Amino acid sequence: MARTSVTSVSERRLEGKVALITGGASGIGEATTRLFIKHGAKVCIADIRDDLGRRLLESLGSGTKARFIHCDVSKEDDISKAVDFTAETFGTIDIMVNNAGIIGNKVPDISEVDLHELQKVFEINVDGVFLGMKHAARIMIPRGKGSIISTASTASIIGGLGLHGYTSSKHAVVGLTESVAAELGKHGIRVNCVSPYGVPTGLTLPLLPAWWGTGLVMKFFYAVAGFMANLKGVNLEASDVAEAMLFLASDEARYVRGLNLTVDGGLTVVNGQACHWCAELDGH
Ligand SMILES: NC(=O)c1ccc[n+]([C@@H]2O[C@H](COP(=O)([O-])OP(=O)(O)OC[C@H]3O[C@@H](n4cnc5c(N)ncnc54)[C@H](O)[C@@H]3O)[C@@H](O)[C@H]2O)c1
Repeated sequence: MARTSVTSVSERRLEGKVALITGGASGIGEATTRLFIKHGAKVCIADIRDDLGRRLLESLGSGTKARFIHCDVSKEDDISKAVDFTAETFGTIDIMVNNAGIIGNKVPDISEVDLHELQKVFEINVDGVFLGMKHAARIMIPRGKGSIISTASTASIIGGLGLHGYTSSKHAVVGLTESVAAELGKHGIRVNCVSPYGVPTGLTLPLLPAWWGTGLVMKFFYAVAGFMANLKGVNLEASDVAEAMLFLASDEARYVRGLNLTVDGGLTVVNGQACHWCAELDGH
């Protein structure tokens, strides 16, 4: 749940803007959807989980300017349709958030990783980001403005935090961000990415044994995250990542381009050596 309280129109940092958020039906995407709406944006949620998308729309209330479209980000036709649907429904696209992602099967040993599993991770985490950038650009270029934000990960910076496919796919998200930022600057379009550390969501919680129960799972999750990130008294939540997205989407970041914004409590600068411990945990 986003902690920002927005009381007046002047405080709404995305008033009148239109956003398309992939993987927007749960976790970080859901928190971003809620925060963007709170800040006056019209949001189209694109996800494969129709049930979660529709439930989110219902919880937002009937007066909310939000829509849902079924979209598998690994399929160009789906992304293209989601972009067209958003632009037709709300008039344009100011903000594209390429957030959908998966971890892949928990196989840590390189000798046992199935190539098809790795390719599946790339189809969603890399092809999906590329396609989102490509089709958002065709709406943004003629307007000479726009903000494209993708969700990378701390695994985009250091090895050993995630599985091989996940780590390499998130490095590729940073590569795409820098490459596309370099091209689209001449059109006034800013391209950035966000790299969170561990947030308890549908992506990460299944890594821990379900039989532990929610209480113990959350306790353990934050104990490990707290130890690794070394930032006393703060537990990373999806809303913290949404705040970073909000900054990059808003005019406050009008000169910020090609950035990989970490939301990691300093993990990637203070504690990288301890990360292999996490990869071990992933696999057992
Ligand atoms: N949770 C973390 O600790 C963490 C840390 C760093 C980065 N991330 C990244 O954040 C992003 C969001 O993950 P999350 O933690 O909120 O997980 P999540 O599982 O709660 O959300 C991911 C969403 O993406 C959707 N999705 C999956 N495959 C899709 C596809 N092919 N097309 C469209 N939608 C698809 C899912 O249905 C889901 O709604 C991912 O890119 C993930 O890699 C998460």
